[in-house]
Amino acid sequence: MSVTTDARPFSATLRASTLEVHEKANYSEYMRALLGSELSQDGYTQLAIQYYFIYGAIEAASDAMAGHPVGGEFVFDELRRLPNLERDLAHLVGPDWRSTISPLASTQAYVSRIREASTWAGGYVAHHYTRYLGDIAGGQVIRRTLEKNYDVAEAGALFYHFDEIGSAPRFRDQYRAKLDNAPWDEAERARVIDETVVAFECNVAVFDELATRLDEFRA
Ligand code: HEM
Repeated sequence: MSVTTDARPFSATLRASTLEVHEKANYSEYMRALLGSELSQDGYTQLAIQYYFIYGAIEAASDAMAGHPVGGEFVFDELRRLPNLERDLAHLVGPDWRSTISPLASTQAYVSRIREASTWAGGYVAHHYTRYLGDIAGGQVIRRTLEKNYDVAEAGALFYHFDEIGSAPRFRDQYRAKLDNAPWDEAERARVIDETVVAFECNVAVFDELATRLDEFRA
């Protein structure tokens, strides 16, 4: 575990420390095919299905963290994705979606890691940051691609609609201020960075498992 003695705000150190693994996620084969509009709508639906299990775990952790003096600062009802994901899956999979979807092995491993890491506030924040800050940033690139090339604008892509957060840049700045002000010493900050890298790697593992079926998902 690396101990950082970095003068930058913690949010800047966290972002800089995850740039490499962010690129790995961004340029993963499945993400490139999705952004390259090479997939069928079903190929996109497979990702939405996996997100249902992943956000189920993160938002259960949010419920558990709500009263925590540190983790509670990172519980935002306006970010909750499950209600939108449920509407998306009803549209993309059909009314019986609950009985037809299942998590990949990589998704189950990711869900276990979220549960384990969310037993400490920094671990919860690491997984929260990785997903939600990503969704309100790069996720909007995916949203535009879905609207333009997958004929999925409203129902089916509501996961990418963050209508309740107001200005996304302001929301991100407020989120970064919370990261900077969280009462973590250098060792704890280093632990949060390490767990954030793990969170990214968990996402890459899900994308890579989806990529093993790319031929099936191609448009
Ligand atoms: C689909 C491909 C993706 C694109 C095009 C993309 C693009 C971006 C962009 C443009 C930003 C804003 C950078 C900035 O403000 O300087 C960003 C931030 C971020 N992305 Fe991605 N991203 C992608 C995938 C992902 C994935 C898969 C994850 C997580 C698993 C992720 C997590 C993040 C996080 C946590 C941030 C916030 C960094 C910070 O401000 O501290 N991104 N992304």
